[in-house]
Amino acid sequence: MSAEQSDVLVFFGITGDLAYKKIFPSLQSMVLHGALNIPVIGVAKSGMNIDSLKDRIHSSLAEHASCLDEGAFGKLCDQLNYVDGDYKDPRTYDQLKQLMKNAKHPLFYLAIPPSMFSVVVDGLAKAGCHRGARIMVEKPFGRDLKSAIELNETIHQHFPEDAIFRIDHYLGKEPVQNILYSRFANSYLEPTFNRNYVSHVQITMAEEFGLQGRGRFYEEAGAIRDVIQNHMLQLVACLAMEPPSRPHPDDIRIERAKLLRTIRPLSVEDVVRGQFRGYREEDGVSKDSRVETFAAVRLWIDSWRWAGVPFFIRTGKCLPFTCTEAIVVFKRPPQNVFGEEDQGHPNYLRFRLNPQVVTAIGTRAKQVGEGMIGRDVELIAQRHIQQELEPYERLLIEAMKGESAYFADQAGVEEAWRVVDPVLDMHHTPIRMYDKHTWGPSEAYQLISSYGIWIDPGAEPDCD
Ligand code: BG6
Repeated sequence: MSAEQSDVLVFFGITGDLAYKKIFPSLQSMVLHGALNIPVIGVAKSGMNIDSLKDRIHSSLAEHASCLDEGAFGKLCDQLNYVDGDYKDPRTYDQLKQLMKNAKHPLFYLAIPPSMFSVVVDGLAKAGCHRGARIMVEKPFGRDLKSAIELNETIHQHFPEDAIFRIDHYLGKEPVQNILYSRFANSYLEPTFNRNYVSHVQITMAEEFGLQGRGRFYEEAGAIRDVIQNHMLQLVACLAMEPPSRPHPDDIRIERAKLLRTIRPLSVEDVVRGQFRGYREEDGVSKDSRVETFAAVRLWIDSWRWAGVPFFIRTGKCLPFTCTEAIVVFKRPPQNVFGEEDQGHPNYLRFRLNPQVVTAIGTRAKQVGEGMIGRDVELIAQRHIQQELEPYERLLIEAMKGESAYFADQAGVEEAWRVVDPVLDMHHTPIRMYDKHTWGPSEAYQLISSYGIWIDPGAEPDCD
């Protein structure tokens, strides 16, 4: 497929929650940056018309964009069209085709329930809309390995792999790109980023908020499907992958997928699942639900570089802070030369992704005065408030160009499902209750205890 710029953006599921919270603000921002000069066609079955859709976009921008720019909103409306129709009805696609006019490289964005993916893909193909087109698919991409393979087969019937853009918005995040950059643009990291120096790696993705009205969705997902299979494993891939042989997007994707292939499938001993007290009273949630709102896992990477180095991930809703960070913890010096009773934290490298972007090195420094006694100090290499292209803005711009670096490929998605597949059955592992605004069940501490302790965000040592 040529790398022609897309000439129309067709958005399936335009009246949904994701569009409201994330996509409309990104479209406004693209207009402001001069990056959206093509028609936008929304498709949904909602009983809306173009005017009510415009009203919805206006409220979305007022609520979720960093600012509501009436000029950009007006321009977006001028480019906008809407088809209200059933995804199963061929007339929906006929109407769409008319509105697409002579577009040669449409970009179809599917922000719809996964059960509808194949219906829409078939509908587009039957109407002949798929030729020369690209397709962007929202996560979750399948529910397990089997359904992900089936879904890939369905989409591949009509779209070649290089026309498929599987979204994992973490790959579009500036701080995630920053991790890749830091790893391969700094020579001092390479000699230490391996089993000889690293004791373990820990990733915390903590969210202070709860379900935000997504109870029904969450009941079908749980933390492992919602964020570990995708965002967290892609983050592990960026932290642990080998350098790409060329600075080409395909090579970066290949290295990420290769790393995922070396992760051992999770066993039940590697998983702690938790549920915050009160979850079962949420709308859309079953009274005896065993779905996890917290998960801690221990991953093993069977590669030359990482053999014997566990990667721990914990994520949860209703934790004390909203913060995502990866900490690479180094081994202690071979001897306690100064005989300190408390040697403090081992050295570490902290990559914080939000709420601020921080790259920091945890080190020991001598306390001024008598005796050889140290204290923990953080050297901040970089610290700024997130000021980035919205991930969705970046992803849309890249997909419109046909660039795949920021997207997950088939191999990567299937490898990630292979890793979590053995622990998806909720009856194989107990569900542990935890109080809101705590760091989850105590079993999560036991999981890591032979290697160290979880370094909680908000408990950083002094900064120098
Ligand atoms: C989404 C999950 O994919 O990612 C949500 O469905 C989660 O449950 C969100 O809150 C986190 O994304 P971010 O960008 O806010 O860290």
